[in-house]
Parts: sequence; structure tokens; C-alpha cells
Amino acid sequence: MTVSILLDKRIVLGVTGSIACYKAVDLASKLTQAGALVDVVLTESAGRFVTPLSFRSVTGRPVHDDLWNLDDHVRHVRLGEAADLLVIAPATAQTLAKLAHGLADNLLAVTALAARCPLLVAPAMDGGMYEHPATQANVRLLRERGVLFAGPAEGRMASGLVGTGRMVEPAELLGHIRLALGRNGPLAGRRVVVTAGPTEEPVDPVRFLSNRSSGRQGLALAQAALDAGAQVTLVAGPIGEALPVGVEHVPVGTAVEMRDAVLAAVARADALLMAAAVADFRPAQVAQQKIKKTVAETDDLAITLARNPDILAEVKAQKEKSGRPLVTLGFAAETENALAYGRDKLERKGLNFIAVNDVSAADAGFAVETNRVILLSADGSRVEMPLQSKAAVAEQLVQHVADSLETLSSQQRN
Ligand code: C5P
Repeated sequence: MTVSILLDKRIVLGVTGSIACYKAVDLASKLTQAGALVDVVLTESAGRFVTPLSFRSVTGRPVHDDLWNLDDHVRHVRLGEAADLLVIAPATAQTLAKLAHGLADNLLAVTALAARCPLLVAPAMDGGMYEHPATQANVRLLRERGVLFAGPAEGRMASGLVGTGRMVEPAELLGHIRLALGRNGPLAGRRVVVTAGPTEEPVDPVRFLSNRSSGRQGLALAQAALDAGAQVTLVAGPIGEALPVGVEHVPVGTAVEMRDAVLAAVARADALLMAAAVADFRPAQVAQQKIKKTVAETDDLAITLARNPDILAEVKAQKEKSGRPLVTLGFAAETENALAYGRDKLERKGLNFIAVNDVSAADAGFAVETNRVILLSADGSRVEMPLQSKAAVAEQLVQHVADSLETLSSQQRN
């Protein structure tokens, strides 16, 4: 599936001599599947771990090594100039040293000098080499110069030693690449709070009331906001999926915990995207011990429920006092009269936008990959979005929020 932030982006992937080279093939494949144009540059020692043909097969593009020919004597300039991002993964201690000191003795090193795009490196080295003062000094120098780092991670290394030096996994590296490409997006410099997932309302120490929310739409919103360059705080109930790279994660359990976390986070936020499926009620009493089968006199056991706070209503009150967050977007999951209920909720909760979806449809809403949403705005406009991936829905919603923030900023300037 293509990913907008990666679509048609030119990524030069430098691969240097580490056993982690095999992960670079997977990375090149993932980037290509996402729509990026990946030009691989192999160093000589990388070529001993993995062949140019491996990369050629997954990228469908020429692979470059140190065997320059006379017809292409400025290949390094061409590669460097055209690139949106130079990624070096794995990056050995040797290559970090070359980059830090401007050495230029192979195609990759000269390309790095000629490139004017951001540079992201994923170090990989064994046996305490990363901790060595020489490597640490090089890392510091590179960071000061604006080079972006992904990892290294901790764990077992090829030697059997455990420590810091493993290359981060390709899926995580992809997240770092998205962050690097999105840095100057329409939400650059903005703080966005996203909520996702269900809440869990305890009944006793082993039981809770919850709902079917997978958290996927919220995660997609967080990723889309990151892709647009925002600093993202993700206030999330329990969700089983991997979180987007780069979010500040605030894990919560109950609706009350979510309310407290959201009110704290939005105090300095530009936007709140409220995708969580917050429980409306919680058990009025939480039993201190596990409730026994024998506790009820009849076969029935009644649990009295107390109303949870409406988080958006409290955000509305806070916004009226402090002006923050500037823009709010809520969701309305409905099974009937979706538009009428959605419009009513938009007004009652004082939202700028509400994304209404009919969750009675099998292909939209909870626990599926797709969603069909109608976006209602406080200014009365209405945008119908056809059935599409939750990622595509998220991108459009984030675009509307970014436009709205931009409109507010330009009104303030005038
Ligand atoms: O009122 P209803 O639950 O239908 O509204 C849904 C919207 O309100 C969602 O954006 C949801 O995250 C938010 N909500 C909330 N606090 C609650 C319940 C829902 O902020 N207690």
C-alpha cells in the first residue's frame, strides 16, 4: 500500500558493511512498496554481506557501487542532488567516522558530501564499539551538524554480546524516515494531541468494562499528524498495535485518567483529535476483591454504573477560558440518523469538526481497516469521504485541521 509522505520521494539508501545488511533489503522493499524511489549505494564491504541483485530485485532500480565508469563520472553529484533524503542503514563505526570527518573515499561517502538533503543514519556495530569515546565523539559531531539518528537499539548482537549497537528494525526505521520527510510539513511547529483506543473501567481487580475500539483510526491520525510535521502526544487506552515512531505516548486506563491526561496535554496544544472510544459509564463501586459467583442471592448480579466525564465537554470549557486547544475534532460513531446526531454533537461539544461514521456498516468503524466518514464543520460545511483506508481518512482529516489552523493564524496576522 502506498504512503503519501513516501510516494515518489527519492531516497538514497546507503548500505555499509554490517551483518545488519540483510535488514536493509527489507527496508528497501518496504520503502518501494510504499511508493518511494529507492537508489541503493553499496560500499565494498556491504557487497560481501548482500548482493546488488538483492536490492535491484526489490527496488526495480539500478544499484550503485564503487565501480564507476567514465560515462557516469558525476554519479555522486547526481544522486546527492536529486535525493529528498539520504538514509545510511546500517551505518558502521567506520562510516560514521568518515561522515564526521568529511572523508570521501567511496561513492557513498562522496554522495553524502555532495547531498544537500537531510541525512538519517541507523548505526549498527558490535562489541561495545558504539560506546567507544571515538564513536561517541563522532556521533556528537554529527548530531550537532543536524544529522538524524535512528537507534542503535539494545539487544543481542552478532557476537552474542548484549548491549547497544543493534540496527533498529526496518519497520521502526520507516517511522524515522517518515519523521525526517515530514519535518517541514503543514503542521511543523504545531502541537497536536490525539486520543485513541478504548477505555477500561474496572469492576474488580480482574474484570473491566470496555468496548471494541481497536485504536486504529486514532493511530492513523497520530501518524498523519506526524507526517505533517506536528509534535504529537498520543493519549491512548490499551491498544495492541505498534505506536507510530515519534509520538509522545501517554498510556491511560479509565475515562477519568484519559480526561486528566487530555486536559493537561491540550493546555499547550494547537489541536485535539479525539478518536478514543471513551466509556460513557463506569461501575459506581470498584470491588476491592474479585467478585465471587456466590455473592448474589439470585442468579443475577447487578452492577450500578456511574456517568463518566464527557472529555470533550470539559475541553470545551477549558478552551473557552484559555483559548487552547485552538482546533478540536471529535468523532461520532452512530448506528442511525448519523448526520443529525453528528450535527447536534458538533454544536453541543463546541467542536470545530466532527467526523461522523455509520458503524452499523460492516466495512466502516470498529476493528476494520477501512472507514467511511462525513466531516461536518462548525462553519456549516460538509465533506463526504468515500470508503477508504483509515490512513487515507486520517490524512484528509489532518489536512482540514491544518488548513483551519492556518486560517486562524492568518486572521491573527491581519
Ligand atoms: O457523545 P459521544 O460519545 O457519542 O461523542 C463521541 C465523541 O466524544 C468522540 O470524539 C469521543 O472521543 C468523545 N467522548 C468524550 N468523552 C466521553 C465520551 C466520548 O470526549 N465521555
